[in-house]
Amino acid sequence: MIYTVTLNPTIDRLLFLEGTLTKGKNNRLEKIAYDIGGKGHHGSYAMNQQKVKNQALGFCGTTNENKLEKILADKDIQHDFVEVYGKATRESYVILEAEVGGSILITEKGFRVTDYDSELLYEKIESKVQKDDIVLIAGSLPPGFELNDLEDLLNRLKKIGCFIACDLSGEALKKAVEIGVNFIKPNRFEIQELIPSEANFLDRLRELSKKIDYVIVSLGKDGSICSHAGELLQVSTPIVGLVNDTGAGDCFVGTFLASFSLKKPLKECLSLASACAADHIQYSDSTTFSIKAARKLQKKVTIQTLT
Ligand SMILES: Nc1ncnc2c1ncn2[C@@H]1O[C@H](COP(=O)(O)OP(=O)(O)OP(=O)(O)O)[C@@H](O)[C@H]1O
Ligand SMILES: [Mg+2]
Repeated sequence: MIYTVTLNPTIDRLLFLEGTLTKGKNNRLEKIAYDIGGKGHHGSYAMNQQKVKNQALGFCGTTNENKLEKILADKDIQHDFVEVYGKATRESYVILEAEVGGSILITEKGFRVTDYDSELLYEKIESKVQKDDIVLIAGSLPPGFELNDLEDLLNRLKKIGCFIACDLSGEALKKAVEIGVNFIKPNRFEIQELIPSEANFLDRLRELSKKIDYVIVSLGKDGSICSHAGELLQVSTPIVGLVNDTGAGDCFVGTFLASFSLKKPLKECLSLASACAADHIQYSDSTTFSIKAARKLQKKVTIQTLT
């Protein structure tokens, strides 16, 4: 079983502009759509595409819970959240300009959680997670959930002995590495927190996997590098037309962990993850991809051992 933990969930409000975003002009919208924006929720969606059983955990606000519930139901995401009474799950604004690839993302901070809320989450997690399970913790920490709370959560998971995957950034990522988790996937900016200089970058990456079993650095259109058991694998990504790359990393992580839980060989996990993420960026929202189309793209992914 895989559990995804989204501590700071968000609802994406996709704003499709008629033209390009221009200051001093009325920027008219062609349409608005909604999607889940929480990184763990994105991971759950990706796992569903391989029909791998998973459940999304974390916090959610009660005042707009119906909105989140509807999106999760549409995407068939099983979940069991700690409801934080009287608070609203934050919304993120994803601006998509007509005929321009990529997106502009604007996010709120998210509601404050209390120690009591965190305690409820720990209880839920400890009552569910078993040694053979995989737990993915993804996304930012909400106000009120500090680094020592993350440390507490990670130590509780370590005690259970499950496989811990973290898609975190900044100080939270550093904390996960300090505690020692099984998997991290920093992107090209996040890795600078762990390896600030380009000098001896590959050696440092190799070194990192002595502590973290799987370190995958994702490099956008340049693919990714996986460091595992002293070996470095350079993974290419298929060339596709970019529409919106938000969630590419989440799609990669969710797909990778789903394949990993099915005990697929490492190279197979990596190539499918790369293909699914590439397929995903051709869609305008932050989750969608086609596993069928990705399996075709997978044939184009190359994996080379770096020496
Ligand atoms: N323009 C692109 N063309 C093809 N594949 C891409 C492109 N951008 C991303 N990918 C694929 O998605 C993977 C993850 O992308 P990226 O490094 O942008 O993740 P990220 O910054 O963590 O994304 P997010 O946090 O928004 O989910 C890449 O390693 C690559 O396989
Ligand atoms: Mg990311």
